[in-house]
Amino acid sequence: MPNLAQRYGELQDRKNREMAGGGPEAVRKQHQSGKLAARERLALLFDQDSFTETDLFVQHRSANFNMSQTAVPAEGVVTGYGLVGGRRVCAFSQDFTSLGGTLGEMHAKKICKIMDLALKSGVPIVGFNDSGGARIQEGVDALSGYGSIFYRNSCLSGVVPQISAIMGPTAGGAVYSPALTDFIFMVKKTSNMFITGPDVIKTATGEMTDFESLGGAMVHNARSGVAQFACEDDADAIAGIKKLLSYLPSNNMEDPPSGGASPDPRRRVAELDGIVPEDNMADYDMKQVIRLIVDGGEFLEPHEHFAKNIIVCFARVNGRVLGIVANQPKVFAGCLDVDAADKATRFIRFCDAFNIPLLTIVDVPGFLPGTEQEWKGIIRHGAKLLWCYSEATVPKITLITRKAYGGAYLAMCSRDLGADSVLAWPTAEIAVMGAQAAANVIHRRELKEAADPKAKLQAKVSEYEKLFYNPYVAASRGYVDAVVMPHESRIHVIRALEMLQTKRETRPPRKHGNIPV
Ligand code: HXC
Repeated sequence: MPNLAQRYGELQDRKNREMAGGGPEAVRKQHQSGKLAARERLALLFDQDSFTETDLFVQHRSANFNMSQTAVPAEGVVTGYGLVGGRRVCAFSQDFTSLGGTLGEMHAKKICKIMDLALKSGVPIVGFNDSGGARIQEGVDALSGYGSIFYRNSCLSGVVPQISAIMGPTAGGAVYSPALTDFIFMVKKTSNMFITGPDVIKTATGEMTDFESLGGAMVHNARSGVAQFACEDDADAIAGIKKLLSYLPSNNMEDPPSGGASPDPRRRVAELDGIVPEDNMADYDMKQVIRLIVDGGEFLEPHEHFAKNIIVCFARVNGRVLGIVANQPKVFAGCLDVDAADKATRFIRFCDAFNIPLLTIVDVPGFLPGTEQEWKGIIRHGAKLLWCYSEATVPKITLITRKAYGGAYLAMCSRDLGADSVLAWPTAEIAVMGAQAAANVIHRRELKEAADPKAKLQAKVSEYEKLFYNPYVAASRGYVDAVVMPHESRIHVIRALEMLQTKRETRPPRKHGNIPV
């Protein structure tokens, strides 16, 4: 029998072996390619000395292809829990130095176990993905491992925040676990995501491509919309994850963390009065409006590079977290299109699931016209926006700065979709459509018969503008609660949020609705 010292020594030896990953040479290779090692990522994420590792000694039980002789330290994934900014968080970090971070049966079991812990404890889960995908030697057991993770991703959705960091290759079906989570961070140059790799694509279609242009960080941030954040390196991504967590509650039963009351809740913001240009066809930067309304001008913007005609972001007013959805007049004049509808819908549903009140800032001339949008299904995608605003029961505040036309007006959290407080600036134009289009429709015959159709059209346009390009018709019906000076916006948003902090709204019981996807 070994004595006590030997037993204690054995524990340390075993720990050292498992924690060494693929060894110093493999870690050096990892660094050389611009990536941190699995444990270094966790050390950056968690508060100092707060990380508790789980399942260090889990081993695979595969025997094929000489696997019985192959040691895979920590089974290629480090799992555990700790504190981030003093709040509990669970995490897993795939170790590329340990058999390529590939996922087999037991690797998946480790991930599932930490996901289960996150779910039952009500804490967010962060996953660092850096893996060659399914461990080919384990065949269907590896596939089953992925399946059990996907199942849990869906069960955790809307209960605890799930955040994925893509920090290396993520190929094939492996991409679907991150895709099922709430937010994806990607690192420029070192990460990629794709269903079929360049070689398979070349064989199947003859198309030539490479990892970066097929599924690099900017492709998924700017084109596909799969990822929400593009980061410069691993450390930048981890700093971003911490910032994001600072806005989120730990679970769907909690409120988001307060930032502490702002020193200036009654601040009037004079700059806002000069934002909307005299010419209603001229653009302005909606991000500046957001900056001027929120605490410290600070906000965190997912999907910054995707569907730039709509902005979604987290911010605080008087210390309270809120999710902001705003049209951006600088891009497509702020029109809604297929991608904008998708982007906003996902964000709104996240906020609603996690008790984050919504502020919607409206300057929308309509849905983007054209066959391309119609054929891509703007009807189906636009319907999601109507759906998710109607479905959301968190406090909903709407501020109309300028255009609010037609169906797009309704879709941007109008009173009729359940807005609790609708504010409008004196520059608001709440109308069924733009003046030119309206005059052409309702005065078609008159215009055809007029001696000077151009002058007639201009007169009719002016008449329409005078009647409808204002907030007062909507205010006279109660669709708008208050017409406020731009400089009063921050005060009004703070007051509305305070009023609504105890809002409770229930819907008839049902299994679930059928959102038009
Ligand atoms: C088993 C794998 C592996 C895999 C990599 N390795 N991928 N082992 N199964 N899928 C091993 C390598 O043999 C090597 O082992 C170590 O991991 C590091 O890999 P390298 O190739 O040396 O690294 P690198 O040159 O950086 O290339 C990384 C890579 C490449 C681009 C990821 O390894 C690769 O193309 N792998 C295959 C990727 C793939 O096709 N995956 C899809 C599997 S199917 P040693 O012992 O030499 O260190 C799939 C379907 C999932 O994932 C479906 C879910 C629903």
